[in-house]
Amino acid sequence: MKGVILAGGLGTRLFPLTKATNKHLLPVYDRCMVHYAIDNLLRAGIDHILIVTGGPHAGDFLRVLGTGKDLGIRHLEYGYQEGEGGIADALSIAEDFADGGPVTVVLGDNFTDSNLGPAVRSFTEGAHLFLKEVPDPRDCGVAVFDPRDPKRITAIEEKPEQPKSNYAVTGFYIYDSRAFDYVRRSEPSARGELEITTVNNFYIQDNLMTWSELDGLWLDCGSFDSLLEANRVVAASRQRGEARFLPAADGVPEP
Ligand code: G1P
Repeated sequence: MKGVILAGGLGTRLFPLTKATNKHLLPVYDRCMVHYAIDNLLRAGIDHILIVTGGPHAGDFLRVLGTGKDLGIRHLEYGYQEGEGGIADALSIAEDFADGGPVTVVLGDNFTDSNLGPAVRSFTEGAHLFLKEVPDPRDCGVAVFDPRDPKRITAIEEKPEQPKSNYAVTGFYIYDSRAFDYVRRSEPSARGELEITTVNNFYIQDNLMTWSELDGLWLDCGSFDSLLEANRVVAASRQRGEARFLPAADGVPEP
């Protein structure tokens, strides 16, 4: 399995911090946000990685990550997204890299200590979502479940005002190569972007979607409060002497 980290965008919610660099290079305690996304892939056994970035500071990634070898990445590629076409548009840049195989996709501002490895290893075809139960999912994609079969997702609603469940769609996904055809069939949303939720709904309509619950902490570091929270979590973990957020390349064993 290969991995794709989507790390573009202008990071407007974090202005003025993102005037000088890309959001995913901002610090989370003693490392950059993107390092944690890379670790999520490495811990799942994925060391063939494409980072799709964009915006005015895309070049900063090279200075921070270089070849990625010292992080334990066997093969690192970069892709560049022109404009602000949305997450699904960014994903489409990964088609050649995926080369017909499945990819685990991570939104670079999503932060977790969960291990994606079991789902990655058992994936066969279609798509897999990682959901997280949260008190208020209105800022997220939200799962709608079949009342007759409460484990079956019938749709994902993007940022609904009245969510039909408390299960947020996190920024971790596994897709087979159908994803790229689904992106081609997508229409821009009201915010003028190709939404990953549209791609997910194609998979659901075609009965090709599975899901599991993210079993650990989950934060989207795209706001000042959640970025601060991620910093606090890592600092506290380090002070307790845990290995939880140490680089995967340091040989942290899989749980
Ligand atoms: C995106 C997705 C949304 C998902 C979220 C997770 O939203 O569109 O479905 O729940 O990431 O972080 P964004 O935060 O980019 O608007």
